[in-house]
Amino acid sequence: MPDVKKSNEPKRSLNIGIVGCGQMGQKHARNCAAIKGVVVTAVADTNKKRAHTLADELKAAAYPDSEALVEEAGIDALIIATPPAEHRKDALAAIKAGKNVLIEKPIALDIDSAKSLCNAVGKSSVVNAVGFHLRYAPITQKAKSLISGKRVTQVRSVTTTGYYLNFDMPLWFLQKKHSGGPLLEQTLHMIDAARYMVGDITRVFAQGDRIVKPELRKFDSEDTMVLAYKFANGALGTHADSTATTVFNWEIELFGVDWRLLVDYARKSLEGYFGDEIVHLQLPDTDYHKIELEAFINDVRRRKNGAIRSDFNDATKTLETMLAGDRSLKTHAWEIVGK
Ligand SMILES: NC(=O)c1ccc[n+]([C@@H]2O[C@H](COP(=O)([O-])OP(=O)(O)OC[C@H]3O[C@@H](n4cnc5c(N)ncnc54)[C@H](O)[C@@H]3O)[C@@H](O)[C@H]2O)c1
Repeated sequence: MPDVKKSNEPKRSLNIGIVGCGQMGQKHARNCAAIKGVVVTAVADTNKKRAHTLADELKAAAYPDSEALVEEAGIDALIIATPPAEHRKDALAAIKAGKNVLIEKPIALDIDSAKSLCNAVGKSSVVNAVGFHLRYAPITQKAKSLISGKRVTQVRSVTTTGYYLNFDMPLWFLQKKHSGGPLLEQTLHMIDAARYMVGDITRVFAQGDRIVKPELRKFDSEDTMVLAYKFANGALGTHADSTATTVFNWEIELFGVDWRLLVDYARKSLEGYFGDEIVHLQLPDTDYHKIELEAFINDVRRRKNGAIRSDFNDATKTLETMLAGDRSLKTHAWEIVGK
């Protein structure tokens, strides 16, 4: 894996377009502005006011949609930060025009869309990335190096996302056809990080219910879920997903013979032991999205994927895993990933 920050290419200014000027579009825009030689020259949003507010801040051009932006703005790369159901259309247009693409997670909400994106990048030479920022977190990298060469026997992951049922969330987050629900929006962060550290998941069993706020009519998804999952290497996993508590908690606990490691994303700490060696590490409070963006920019400059840790194909495997979970919520049976 090449160093995220190093590139032998001579630096020239890279022009970036951003579609979706909400929470993540703004975050990526400000992170772009902090990278030398990177300029956000154009932004697009169906919400005109949002597009113009961000464009004014960045001294960029504002477009009503990504089609016009991709055609007219002369960008090197497009960052797509719209709701998931919108990703496919914008990404296909950008790839067709030869633009490098970073899509926010999840890559899409259905496999046909994700595969059409994989096919499109397969036929082109564009750099492609999906925004799984936890893969770039120092805590994930440290955990990965600590367990390197060790057999993982079991995984326990947790997300507590009380904020999900908070009325401040944009409405689309609460609607399954736009967001995929908490399973595809939030749980997938932990499952993707577990996949990154341990390997592919082959089957998933899920149970879910509306227990926390059944009266919340705008929300049409499960608010409480448990998952069991099995890795290709034989390890077994369980996941608990709750919207009941507002205390932010994202954890992955890894077990092996005579070792245990708790990767605590909320506290940015690693706790555990390997035989007689005790692990107790506090990791720095870095901006994982910025490290992710630097990897993408690095690869755009080199004109090939290398530093990116989640390309379209890999992100599609995470999507397939989550969709197996989603099917299991309905069938109440173990579902094979990728079927
Ligand atoms: N990686 C992370 O940590 C992280 C965190 C939050 C959200 N996300 C992801 O980022 C994406 C955006 O989430 P957000 O929180 O920024 O949402 P948001 O609602 O704050 O912003 C989305 C923006 O997209 C605009 N939009 C909707 N449809 C559009 C279209 N067809 N064309 C142009 N603009 C359109 C909306 O007007 C809105 O301004 C989602 O995929 C989400 O899952 C990732």
